[in-house]
Amino acid sequence: MPEPNVLLAIEGALAVVTVNRPDKRNALDLPTVEEFHAALAEIARARCSAFIVTGAGDKSFVAGADINAIKARRRNDALAGINSRLMSAIENHDAVAIAAVNGFAMGGGCELALACDLRIAADNALFGLPEATLGIIPAAGGTQRLPRIVGLGRAKEMILTGARWDAKKSLEYGLVSEVVPSAELMTAARAMAARVLSLGPLAIRLAKQALNASANMPLQSGLMFESMIQAVTFESKDKMEGASAFLEKRKPAFTGE
Ligand code: COA
Repeated sequence: MPEPNVLLAIEGALAVVTVNRPDKRNALDLPTVEEFHAALAEIARARCSAFIVTGAGDKSFVAGADINAIKARRRNDALAGINSRLMSAIENHDAVAIAAVNGFAMGGGCELALACDLRIAADNALFGLPEATLGIIPAAGGTQRLPRIVGLGRAKEMILTGARWDAKKSLEYGLVSEVVPSAELMTAARAMAARVLSLGPLAIRLAKQALNASANMPLQSGLMFESMIQAVTFESKDKMEGASAFLEKRKPAFTGE
């Protein structure tokens, strides 16, 4: 049997999703995108609170959309948002997504990292949105999420000049929050996940929604949304447990309720 294009390991509250086409630098063809959606559904079913996304092999995180598929696609394929829907499904997932970027994060690979909530890079990471070299634009969130993360000027630099950013520059620009030696990437990503998993799960899930909404809402509506969310956390078991644990000088045992 051929190996799956997407490997999923569920380890309690944490899942690890590995794009597994190393011979093709983990480029996203349609079966890979579909397998990724299935992995996201499985992560939701298993009620994981965080998942790490990485690429198989030591060369590439994801080298973008599969260019064979791009060549064959026409207007309606773009309108169907094949890759774009995957990125939105990651962004809107209940679990926190952590991109562990090893090597090339080009095109859709860069956009995959942008759709994740947190990004950590190996020292060999290289980010770029080279779509215009193919006569197209980055349309799985590149023109929209990149400026929200690094600012419009820097996003224009990457997209309009075809610049590639190494790990050091990506850290300086705020594209990633940590750079580690390649061999330590997964350990560092797991440590980041452990920090997420130590917090109140319901609060984290709702905080992700509030943070995502900040890009779409006027300030007053966003502040109202934030208060409504807090009204939910104030009635939660997690809040009672978190506050009690602090006052009793013990570790909280959250249930996510
Ligand atoms: N789609 C389809 N195949 C891809 C691919 C992609 N996005 N990226 C790499 N591959 C394939 C290559 O065609 C090659 O296949 P082959 O062995 O059958 O010839 C294999 O993966 C290895 O690629 P190669 O270019 O030899 O590896 P490299 O390590 O020298 O370079 C990259 C790696 C990522 C810099 C280079 O492959 C690249 O520029 N890829 C395209 C990136 C891109 O433009 N992405 C946006 C797409 S919209």
